[in-house]
Parts: sequence; structure tokens; C-alpha cells
Amino acid sequence: MTAAAQILLDRIKSDGSIDGQVIKVDKFLNHMVDPKLMRVLAKEIAGRFADKMIDKILTAETSGIMLAQAVAEELDVSFIYAKKKKPLTMTEYYAAASYSFTKQESTTLYVSREVLSAGDRLLFIDDFYAKGSTLKAIDEIVAQSQTVLVGSAVIINKGERQDVESILTLADLQ
Ligand code: G4P
Repeated sequence: MTAAAQILLDRIKSDGSIDGQVIKVDKFLNHMVDPKLMRVLAKEIAGRFADKMIDKILTAETSGIMLAQAVAEELDVSFIYAKKKKPLTMTEYYAAASYSFTKQESTTLYVSREVLSAGDRLLFIDDFYAKGSTLKAIDEIVAQSQTVLVGSAVIINKGERQDVESILTLADLQ
């Protein structure tokens, strides 16, 4: 286990909880946020992509934003957060629908055409990978924009996909 994983695991045990498949992290990750912990996690993830020539980080509102910003700082690139409501000012955009099993609702992710250029090498960042619906929508936006998804990384991977990098998996939490 990496040092970052151990720090996160200790924090979940002290300030969070694990209830079957649901991990409660809202005192330090996705409601109240500990920026120092975020920095530790971001350094670990950024290190894994340091030589991958990432141009931009891509995440989705809301809870992916804090990690995306921290990783973007480490890799010295900008980050984009796909919006769940299309602003009136966004006239040219890529869009893809995503169904959240956790929240049992469908949302559409919007990214302005102005912030992606064909050929951009992107790193997708999020807090959780669960059923993969967010990543599926991101894949569609990547295809629409002719960008390149170089990799994906989340804090906790609750799914089966091995190619989604993470600090912890469900197995680490049992
Ligand atoms: P998927 O994108 O991988 O398919 O995941 P799914 O639809 O099942 O759930 C995604 C949403 O649920 C995400 O928030 C994610 O943060 C949250 N989530 C998933 N598993 C857990 C968990 O174990 N603990 C907590 N605390 N949250 C979890 P979102 O709907 O995308 O919205 P937002 O909260 O980022 O705004």
C-alpha cells in the first residue's frame, strides 16, 4: 500500500465509515474538505502521470473538482469541470448523458467547445469510480471532441476496471 493510501485509510477509519459498498467521506473529501489530504492524494496520482504528457485534466461537477484542481497544480496544467447545467453563455458544446445509480437520477454533462482542442491529451479525475456512468459520458465527450483520454484516476475505485487508477479499492477497505 502506498503512503497516501495508508493516510487515506487511517482517515476513513477515524473520521468516516464503510457501510457495505458505501464509503462515508464527507468530513474530509466531498462535503467538508481537507485540502492538505487532497494535496497528498494529488501528489500520488500526479506522480503516476508525470511522464504522460497530459495537456488538461477533465472532471465532472461536483466532487471531482477539488482533486482535479490539486492534480492540475501538480502537473502544471489547467483543469476543466464538465457542468451539469448548461449556462446560457455556453452556445457551442459537447454533451453526454450519465445515470447515477447512487443518486438514481440522470444528468447531462456539458463541456464548452472552447476549452477542448482536437488532439488534447486528457486525464480524467473523479472522487469515486462506481458503476462507470460518469466515465462513459466522459468517453463520449472525448470522442465528440476528438481528444485523447490518456488515463483515468479516482480516489476510491469501487468497480472492476483495473485501468482506472486509484488510491484505494474496495478490497483495501474490507
Ligand atoms: P459512476 O459515475 O461511476 O457510475 O457512479 P454512480 O453513478 O454509481 O455514483 C456516482 C455519484 O455517487 C458520484 O457523485 C459519487 O461521488 C457518488 N458516490 C459513489 N459511491 C460513493 C460512496 O461510496 N460514497 C460517497 N460518499 N459517494 C459516492 P455525483 O452524482 O457524480 O455527484 P457529485 O456528488 O460529485 O455532485
